[in-house]
Amino acid sequence: MNIKKKSTIIKKRKILSCQKGLLLWFTGLQGAGKSTLAHRLEIELHNKGYLTTIINENNLKNLGLTTEFNTENIKKIGEIAKLFVDREIITISTFISPYKNDREKIRNLFKNSDFMEIYVKCSFEILKSREEKGLFKKINTNEFYNFSARYEEPVNPEITLNTSILTIEECLKILLIYLEKKGVE
Ligand SMILES: Nc1ncnc2c1ncn2[C@@H]1O[C@H](COP(=O)(O)OP(=O)(O)OP(=O)(O)O)[C@@H](O)[C@H]1O
Ligand SMILES: [Mg+2]
Repeated sequence: MNIKKKSTIIKKRKILSCQKGLLLWFTGLQGAGKSTLAHRLEIELHNKGYLTTIINENNLKNLGLTTEFNTENIKKIGEIAKLFVDREIITISTFISPYKNDREKIRNLFKNSDFMEIYVKCSFEILKSREEKGLFKKINTNEFYNFSARYEEPVNPEITLNTSILTIEECLKILLIYLEKKGVE
């Protein structure tokens, strides 16, 4: 397909969907609050009239991919996210995605303005207390601690949400203000 035809299709998609696609890549330890915040954000965006999708561990499983700790699996998720973003859907992913390089590769698939890394940060003490209360689905205690030790913190994420000290509502507000500045209002 020639470049002119391709750019016409891209413009038409934008007009048809009346919105611009973005990828909100949530990363953070197990139980930090990625899924909780993603679902709340999705509801807020729906109320504002935006079309969204969440990609999570269920999609990973359905694709026959077993773990989000595998570089190749994260790459595939990034490619799937790009399909959605290119079709102007606000896409939210909720994978621990522990490795910095894997996340950087995903960032490189997108234009700067289309990708946001959101670090959902949480202290070990709070995670432990959430785990004891059964507040999130864990694999097993040993794996949980092994995985946590291997997590590489984002160096320069677009947003950091420290859920040890911020409430869900406060985190949500930060996300919505950030998105408003990007024209999602
Ligand atoms: N500020 C907060 N933001 C998000 N979640 C919070 C916050 N404070 C407490 N929580 C609680 O912490 C738990 C987080 O669980 P959640 O499943 O969202 O984590 P997760 O990061 O998606 O974990 P996993 O990687 O296992 O999918 C929930 O029970 C949520 O209610
Ligand atoms: Mg989750």
